Amino acid sequence: MEPLFEKLKKEGKANPQRLVLPESMEERNMTAANLMLAEGTGKITLIGKKDDILAKAKELNLSNIGKARFVDNENSNETEKYAQLFYELRKNKGVTIEDARKKVKNPLYLGCLLVKAGEADGMVSGAIHATSDVLRPAFQILKTAPGVNSVSGAFIMVLPEDKAKVYGEKGMLVFADCAVMPDPTKEELAQTAILTAKTAKELAGITPRVAMLSFSTKGSAQHDKVTKIVNATAKAKAIDPTLNIDGELQADAAIVEAVAELKAQGSPVAGKATVLVFPNLEVGNIAYKLVQRLGGATAVGPILQGLAAPVNDLSRGCNADEIYKTLLITSNQAINRDK
Ligand code: ACO
Repeated sequence: MEPLFEKLKKEGKANPQRLVLPESMEERNMTAANLMLAEGTGKITLIGKKDDILAKAKELNLSNIGKARFVDNENSNETEKYAQLFYELRKNKGVTIEDARKKVKNPLYLGCLLVKAGEADGMVSGAIHATSDVLRPAFQILKTAPGVNSVSGAFIMVLPEDKAKVYGEKGMLVFADCAVMPDPTKEELAQTAILTAKTAKELAGITPRVAMLSFSTKGSAQHDKVTKIVNATAKAKAIDPTLNIDGELQADAAIVEAVAELKAQGSPVAGKATVLVFPNLEVGNIAYKLVQRLGGATAVGPILQGLAAPVNDLSRGCNADEIYKTLLITSNQAINRDK
């Protein structure tokens, strides 16, 4: 296992967090939950009928599932208080109590409500749901952390050995936004920069040096899209003057020392960036997939940053090991939230 996850495992064991896996009857989720329960690296809540889940666990030889907490989304005696909570949270948006009672049958909504009610510290879902299905209940119920308006999705890119010697820090770079905002404003980009620096520091354990990427370096091109990145950089710096950030930078100027010398002399970030902030979701999503596929990096994420409590999304093609690792990431975010 990568050193990053060994670190997270230790943290989880020392301070086990209560994590919800709402897609509970799904074999990969059950396998990941079983491992975490066996190790004691986290406490798991599964949503659904306890008897059905335990019968399936028996079939799959997953002997630790019995240690989980179970909440039955079809049992209105159990769910009524969460329906009331959802109604209170959303009545100003036109939600009625009847709507709320229907909504809590959806395990992804109920999972977020358990977190909101303080009965869980975080949630992981998306093995059988699209990203937007995971994001919407999190946005509606948990909302953003204090001082944050926009949630973004980061990836920790763990580089192959040869590249690790040259780029990033400890063999890692953090990319964002690769998952959430199709067309961010300059304010949203600034917030993505600040949140991704935090993810780099707290989760990856690396020094954040944030490059705001563009097709231009330090005025080499003039365009509204370039001005937007310059303004976003200034905005981030104004919000957090301690942030080590620079932009606009091209990708090579951001990560290659020799190019930085030519194009961005004196920059505190150019040539040694550890955090790359992309101008929009198209670029971010395409870039991380190309670095993963063509560059041989392992892409850890998307890690949702900026929510009031951690919720993380899975790829539908994920395996049990990836779910387990996402649980460890969510646990780290919950621990850091409490600090
Ligand atoms: N941060 C915080 N809150 C947000 C954000 C955000 N970035 N975006 C929307 N919201 C909130 C809104 O304020 C609103 O809250 P309210 O209902 O309390 O007023 C709520 O979420 C719903 O907002 P809408 O604008 O109605 O949401 P919409 O349904 O249009 O979509 C969504 C939001 C789901 C996040 C959308 O932006 C989306 O689908 N993004 C792309 C996701 C995706 O497909 N990513 C690529 C794949 S992931 C991968 O490959 C790793």
